[in-house]
Amino acid sequence: MTSDYQGPDRVFSGVQPTGALHLGNYLGALKKFVALQSDYECLYCIVDLHAITVWQDPAQLKAQTREIAAAYLAAGVDPDVAIIYPQSAVREHMELAWYFNCVARVGWLNRMTQFKDKAGKNSENMSVGLYDYPVLQAADILLYKATQVPVGEDQKQHLELSRDIAQKFNNDFSVPNFFPLPEPLIKGPGARVMSLRDGLAKMSKSDPSDNSRINLTDSADVIVKKFKKAKTDMGVMPAPGDDLSERPEVDNLIGIYAALSEEPREAVIARFEGQGFGAFKPALADLAVEKLSPVTTLMNRYLADPDEIDRILDRGADRARAIAVPIMDDIRKTIGFLGA
Ligand code: TRP
Repeated sequence: MTSDYQGPDRVFSGVQPTGALHLGNYLGALKKFVALQSDYECLYCIVDLHAITVWQDPAQLKAQTREIAAAYLAAGVDPDVAIIYPQSAVREHMELAWYFNCVARVGWLNRMTQFKDKAGKNSENMSVGLYDYPVLQAADILLYKATQVPVGEDQKQHLELSRDIAQKFNNDFSVPNFFPLPEPLIKGPGARVMSLRDGLAKMSKSDPSDNSRINLTDSADVIVKKFKKAKTDMGVMPAPGDDLSERPEVDNLIGIYAALSEEPREAVIARFEGQGFGAFKPALADLAVEKLSPVTTLMNRYLADPDEIDRILDRGADRARAIAVPIMDDIRKTIGFLGA
């Protein structure tokens, strides 16, 4: 679909600064961001404009924006290579969102399942921004003509909307291939980490039970305790080839082990075949502590120096702007603004 687009490959992704990051974010997003930075030009944005679609305490917003930055850096995102910055620092995101508001159709937004899930019966009382959230997301991506977007499964529909907006803009203004049609990058180990209490629910910062997730700020003791309490079943560890569709919790723990140890699931299954969870869970907890504690330590070191974080983000915003400004000029001219 992007076959006629001539521009360079570019990766864009965003994380909301709305609460502590957990193992699911680490395996599903941060590790992928690190892996991509050596092969692509990457922009990793802290999407504070998306965060404020629901109420955020101002002091908290600032602290959490720095926390996400610290997590990116601690996980190994190199700020001299990838571009990390807060969304609000590049005002063009908001400008392009307005233009896209005039391209996207109400019917398209009415089909967005994430808005329906978040708003529930209360949609009349949600902010207009929450409804418009996916249009701002399209603007984030297309402001840089990004071609690849590492995201979770739950963002697929928003990516489709981004493609629809790009396509309609290209058609409406007769500028074929002006915008690429960005593709999601979803695959890979750790793509979907589930709750430790319910193998059918995603690990989430909004889950009321803290035992459902491993936070990047959890101490080794807490990590061990949470894995000990993790839900399993009456069986033992499976054998290679066993169907795990009826054992979602066990499936999830094996997936977490494999993603942390960076080996195929089958290798993990073969190693623990027939053992009790009393043997597997401590092994998993040890592995998680081994992999996460250096990240936590480094994250805390960055957080102790907020000025340094702010300098890194300022530099990232300058680099992001350098890409966005000429693209934005072209967009204004294309639309036909006299002042462009
Ligand atoms: N909606 C994304 C999420 O909740 C965050 C996000 C905002 C994003 N803008 C983006 C992700 C652009 C990828 C690209 O996960």
